[in-house]
Amino acid sequence: PEAITVQELANRMAARGGEVVKALFRMGVMATLTQTIDADTAELVVQEFGHRVRRVSESDVELGLEGAADEDTDLQPRPPVVTIMGHVDHGKTSLLDALRKADVAAHEAGGITQHIGAYQVAVPDGGKVTFIDTPGHAAFTAMRSRGAQVTDMVVLVVAADDGVMPQTVEAINHARAANVPLIVAVNKIDKPGVNPDRVRQELLQHEIVVESLGGETQEIEVSATKKINLDKLLEAIALQAEILDLRANPARAAEGTVIESKLDRGRGPVATVLVQKGTLKQGDIVVAGAEWGRVRAMLDDKGRQLKEAPPSLPVEILGLSGVPSAGENFVAVEDEARAREISEFRQRKAREKSSAAAVAGRGTLTDMLA
Ligand code: GTP
Ligand code: MG
Repeated sequence: PEAITVQELANRMAARGGEVVKALFRMGVMATLTQTIDADTAELVVQEFGHRVRRVSESDVELGLEGAADEDTDLQPRPPVVTIMGHVDHGKTSLLDALRKADVAAHEAGGITQHIGAYQVAVPDGGKVTFIDTPGHAAFTAMRSRGAQVTDMVVLVVAADDGVMPQTVEAINHARAANVPLIVAVNKIDKPGVNPDRVRQELLQHEIVVESLGGETQEIEVSATKKINLDKLLEAIALQAEILDLRANPARAAEGTVIESKLDRGRGPVATVLVQKGTLKQGDIVVAGAEWGRVRAMLDDKGRQLKEAPPSLPVEILGLSGVPSAGENFVAVEDEARAREISEFRQRKAREKSSAAAVAGRGTLTDMLA
């Protein structure tokens, strides 16, 4: 697949075309300015020029957005990002509510999660944990298909009275595919006659071996509604986070992933973003997906205005030109010109992809009619 012309590559790096041709020559590649080189070759050239490369997909290259890679000494501990997954009605939202001691479920239409909520809670050990509540697994899948790695671990909620169900298995498979560790929360243990042993056996059939059966997967019996063992669940999360040794450099331009977005009547495009690197500041110029803008205001999950958002904090941002999609990357850039440039690059890529998809679609239709 086509990647990038030598001239465009030079433009993106603000380098002279001739310099890029020379660099290619040194690598044994003969190419003129108008010729296209593949993503792998482009990546090598970019590194030659001392920039960092972002591979949007196998064939896509985006260049040097955020300058040098972080030094080890710049990295500071950051809170874990935890995604709560599990079968319908097994108590994901209730558990999250109990953990943040607020009642979100009560405000949800029909008690069903309408959106991905992302919240940060302070935990008893003094640390913080960021939770993401997924409506089913569609959003998680969308993020993964865009290559966004947002979560550090999954808390798999399994209702003790219902056991392992289809979406439980789906969640296990998602966590496995993303190579993300999993903690099992066996929920609803307050219900009379429930049998958590059965849940452990069912998990075993899906190669999840919990600690009490000699495995490595942490497992906590909880009740979201009766608030049983929530402290133990938080401890399990903290332990897992410690093992993962999660760090980020707060002292750089912010970068992260769009968690959700909407067009608000009064406020315009609103995106909830998870800051994964750097610190996002009010007034920053950001590109989110193919949209861009100056961060006019920034709010946390309690609706408080923030001036700064450090790594692992989910925040709502206002001021974008349009509504980006969940799972898309966002990055703070030095000026509007750069923002416009990246936005145009991404728009063009999106157009190319959709026209390629349209062509493929026509092919299928023709095949079907033939
Ligand atoms: P979806 O978002 O629709 O997939 O559901 P969910 O997994 O978020 O479940 P939710 O928290 O909405 O809970 C579903 C039902 O189970 C509600 O009626 C809760 O009150 C009930 N429930 C949740 N946790 C517990 C628990 O620990 N014990 C008991 N007895 N009931 C619970
Ligand atoms: Mg829910």
